[in-house]
Formats: sequence, structure tokens, C-alpha cells
Amino acid sequence: MFHMGWFLGMGFGVYGWNQPWSGNVASDIANPQLFVDMATSLERAGFDYMMLEDSSVIPDIYGGSLEHSLKVGVVRHDPMPLVPLLAAATSKLGIVATAATTFYPPFLAARLMNTLDHITKGRVGVNLVTASPHAAAQNYGLDKHVEHDLRYEMADEWVQVVKALWDSWEPDALIMDEERGIFADHNKVHRVDFEGQFYKSRGPLNTVPSPQGRPIICQAGGSAAGRNFGAKHADTIIAAVVGVEEMKAYRDDISERMISFGRKPTDVKVLFLISPIMGDTEGEAQAKADRMAAAQAANLEGNLAAMSYFTSMDFSKFDLDAPMPDLSKNNGHQSTMNDYAKSGPTLREIASKHRTVESIPLVGTPESVSVQMGEAMEYAGGDGFLIGSPVTRKSITEVCDGLAPALRRRGLIRSSYSYDHFRDNLLEF
Ligand SMILES: Cc1cc2nc3c(=O)[nH]c(=O)nc-3n(C[C@H](O)[C@H](O)[C@H](O)COP(=O)(O)O)c2cc1C
Repeated sequence: MFHMGWFLGMGFGVYGWNQPWSGNVASDIANPQLFVDMATSLERAGFDYMMLEDSSVIPDIYGGSLEHSLKVGVVRHDPMPLVPLLAAATSKLGIVATAATTFYPPFLAARLMNTLDHITKGRVGVNLVTASPHAAAQNYGLDKHVEHDLRYEMADEWVQVVKALWDSWEPDALIMDEERGIFADHNKVHRVDFEGQFYKSRGPLNTVPSPQGRPIICQAGGSAAGRNFGAKHADTIIAAVVGVEEMKAYRDDISERMISFGRKPTDVKVLFLISPIMGDTEGEAQAKADRMAAAQAANLEGNLAAMSYFTSMDFSKFDLDAPMPDLSKNNGHQSTMNDYAKSGPTLREIASKHRTVESIPLVGTPESVSVQMGEAMEYAGGDGFLIGSPVTRKSITEVCDGLAPALRRRGLIRSSYSYDHFRDNLLEF
């Protein structure tokens, strides 16, 4: 059996603006109901978690202007307040929201995630990113963003502080003895007095230990520094690589790194991104895939804007018919750009490739897609998949009421949850 998650690639943002099947998106901006409906569907389908991406910037790198971003609706509301709403509508689903370590003071994050772990009754997770655009850093008062590998060094120390704060109460510190009038044992609540190279915190947390003790940590980002960070700290890693060979290599690489950090490879679940395109028949699915590829190829501007965002470099300035500039050491998303660079000889070709986020291309009926997923997972030795498809109520239904039952009929995903807490379900198999 493997695990399933859904990556909401636009966080608490706008889904389906000006697209078919988008519902009432124009009047429903910032309405949480789509996400609540989605959470209940994912739980019906037996998913481990729903993961909300986040960023803190309206990108203006492409063409040096906000124009493109505001034409297509690149906005993000804060995902954290969504978490309790999603938890209230569900009882087993894990809920992961993204936080940038570079910008969140560790104490604020430790306290927030502890509180959310209580409110969700042990079902919260945090996706730790270091963020990339300079503009985001400037929103938080920095002159420019921190260099790529240094960001991960800082993130590593950040996690140490946060974990120390989560552990600042011993698990049995809470006594709640009304007769003796003792709420907690002060001998079991400790100052942290963390003083590192980048962060300082006194502690203890002024909250009580949460159901999971430490909320789930999720990580994405495949550079060497990113992989080390995930191998050291994450409970689940989400990966966007291309093809089963790379999936296998990624899982093996994470396992090796985990062992070098003294962890068991089974302590982390590596989920690979897919965006299945499904229809009632193979022909219908293929026709849909062809339409999507054509639309993507025609959207050169959108693709160049995305690449500008990932690299913090203005792609409107490059010659489209020249080879892709070497961006392997850019200060943004290094692994994402390495994958892009592999997809064609010229920038024009690279920017006009059909680019759903996917580790294996999946086109077919729910039945045939479920077979391919089973085969790929068996070969790659990963722990499951993360759906990265565009979010509409239609795509949610295709996955939750078409694909998930097909996977379940093959015994590939769970038919019910064994536990109440996110970590216990995640580590069950
Ligand atoms: C599946 C996936 C999800 C991601 N989600 C976010 C996100 O929500 N916010 C963000 O700032 N970066 C996000 N990223 C970017 C990574 O966290 C990371 O910052 C980026 O890939 C650069 O890391 P790298 O240079 O190690 O590849 C995501 C990346 C992947 C592959």
C-alpha cells in the first residue's frame, strides 16, 4: 500500500480563474468553502494529507512589472487560518500548511503549530520552505534574500530551536490535579536558552504539549542542501522528479542521507508529484491531454513568468532561440530549474513544454491510471504520490471518486484510517 496527498500549488489562492470548471471563482475569491469541500473529499478518498503551498509576494520579476501576475491572479491568502476550518470539517485527514523558515521567528512558529496541533486534535503539519524571491525577503525587512545554501543552514538551526521549544514541556508535565491545585509540574517545564549562530530563544513555550508533541514536518526542494535538510528533519518529503528511474534514485538518495544522520529510512515518507489526466475512455483522456499540451505551448508568457519567479531572473530579457542560460546555481529553486533545463535545446522549446508537475505522465481512465501508479511505485520504492493537478471541484471528484476507488480496489491505498493522529497514519505502512 502507498500513501496519497494533494499539493495545492497555489496555496490559499485563486484556482481556475478564467478556466472551465472553476465554479464561481470570480465571486468566491478568498472563500474557504472550496478548500473545506476538498478536505472532506480527500478524507472520503483515504488521503494522508492535504498540503497548502504558500509565498509572500506578488511576483514582479518578469518584465520588471506586476502586470503578468495581476492579469492571471497570482495572490495568496495566509494558509494558517484555513487549518482549523479544514480540521473542523474532517476527523482523520492530515493538514499541512507552508511556512518560510527565513521569515517566521522560531518562537512564533513553534507556538502557532503547537496550537494548531491542539485545534486539529493531532492532525497538523508544516511544510518548511526557505522561500526564494528577493521581493519576499524585502516584505519582511531584509534588503535581499539570503544566499541559497546559507538559507538551508539557517533553516537547520531554525528547526533545532523549534523542536527544542516543542520539547520544552516534558510529555507528563501537565498534572491537572484540581484537589491539590496543581496545574503543571514546574520541574518538568524547561527554559530552552537556545543561542545559535542565527537564532536565539529563551523558552519554554507558554502552551501545553500538543497531541503529536511535534507536528509533522514536510519538506520540498531537491538541491543537495534541500535534500540534507529533508533527510535530517522531515517526516514527509515531496519530490518533483522526472521518470521512475529518478524517483528510485531520489528515494535511495534520501535513504542514504537519513542513515548518515542516524535516522531510519522508514521514518520518512517520500511522495512524488503527479497530475493524472483522466477521462471515461482512453481516447477521451488523450484528447484532453492534447488540448492541455496545446494550451500550455501557447502560454509562452505564463511559462516565462513562472521561470522568472523560480530563478529571480527576468526571462523577458533572454533570447528565446538561444540555449537556456546556465542557471544551475541560481539563488532560487535550483532543482526545479535543472529539470526545466533538461526539456529542450532552446529557451523557446523549454518554455513551451507541457508542464504539469509530474513525476510520471499519467493519461487514461481511473482504472488504467491506477495500474500505472501501482507499477511505478513498486519499481521506484517510494511511499506514495502527491496529486498536483489544478484544483476544481471536477478534478477533486475525478481523483476522489474515480481514481481513489480504483486504487483501493487494487489494494494500493487504505480503505479506512487506523489512527486519529496524522503521524500514526503516515507511519502505519
Ligand atoms: C512539490 C513542491 C512544493 C513546494 N512548495 C513550496 C511552497 O509552498 N513555498 C515555497 O516557497 N517553495 C515551495 N517549493 C520550493 C521548495 O521548497 C524549495 O524552496 C525550492 O524547490 C528550492 O529548493 P532547492 O533549490 O533545494 O530545489 C516547493 C517545491 C516543490 C518541489
